[in-house]
Amino acid sequence: MKNLVVLSGAGMSAESGISTFRDAGGLWDQYPVEQVATPEGYARNPELVIRFYNERRKQLLTVEPNEGHLGVAALEEEFNVTVVTQNVDNLHERAGSTHVIHLHGELTKVCSSLNPNNPNYIRELKPEEYEVHLGDLAGDGSQLRPFIVWFGEAVPQIEVAIDYVKQADILVIIGTSLNVYPAAGLLHYAPRTADIYLIDPAPVDAHTQRPIHLIRKGASAGVKELRELLKH
Ligand code: OAD
Repeated sequence: MKNLVVLSGAGMSAESGISTFRDAGGLWDQYPVEQVATPEGYARNPELVIRFYNERRKQLLTVEPNEGHLGVAALEEEFNVTVVTQNVDNLHERAGSTHVIHLHGELTKVCSSLNPNNPNYIRELKPEEYEVHLGDLAGDGSQLRPFIVWFGEAVPQIEVAIDYVKQADILVIIGTSLNVYPAAGLLHYAPRTADIYLIDPAPVDAHTQRPIHLIRKGASAGVKELRELLKH
């Protein structure tokens, strides 16, 4: 089986009703990114940040995977698939993808404020625990923090993701503006011989001279077209 790596971003979940970040009316228009997605913002106003992620978490209960997520999961019938996602939602998993690497963390998990990446303190929340409060503590006694990689923080999963991209026969980029590093640099690790596809309704600068098969569609229609193309 060929190795196929998907790199997904917020556009992957847009048709499920989750806002993207940088499109007009996106999340960063509604909430200042420096307040809710940086360690400095969290230090200044932890309550606001905790509330912001409580809302995101509760939204998960109201949305469903779209045809795009389901199509990506179905690729496992034909390929050895690794999904590398910048998304913190769990829609790839709920659609049936079995190997998902979350570069920017996971909404359903919480961790220690002192040691965010210490696995001893990372915990999956049950839906009835989705509302975290100021004063709820992690195993090391620090405030329970959303397990999210904020701007300015290290991206521990990037090395794992690079290893998979290096082995890719096919790389499929879906619904990301490729503005945020190191995720945006992943395609440079794809072997010269790998085929690269990019699914996005808007033009995206991939910062490469390499040939890319562009599929100028939303995630659902785009993944459908991709699956047709990969049959030939
Ligand atoms: P962006 O909001 O920057 O980009 C979303 C992309 O999705 C754009 O290229 C849109 O054209 C595209 N798009 C919109 N609707 C779509 C649809 N229906 N189908 C497919 N694509 C669609 O989001 P990301 O690139 O994911 O980080 O942003 C990367 C990171 O920046 C996020 O993980 C987040 C953010 O700040 C953190 O929170 C740390």
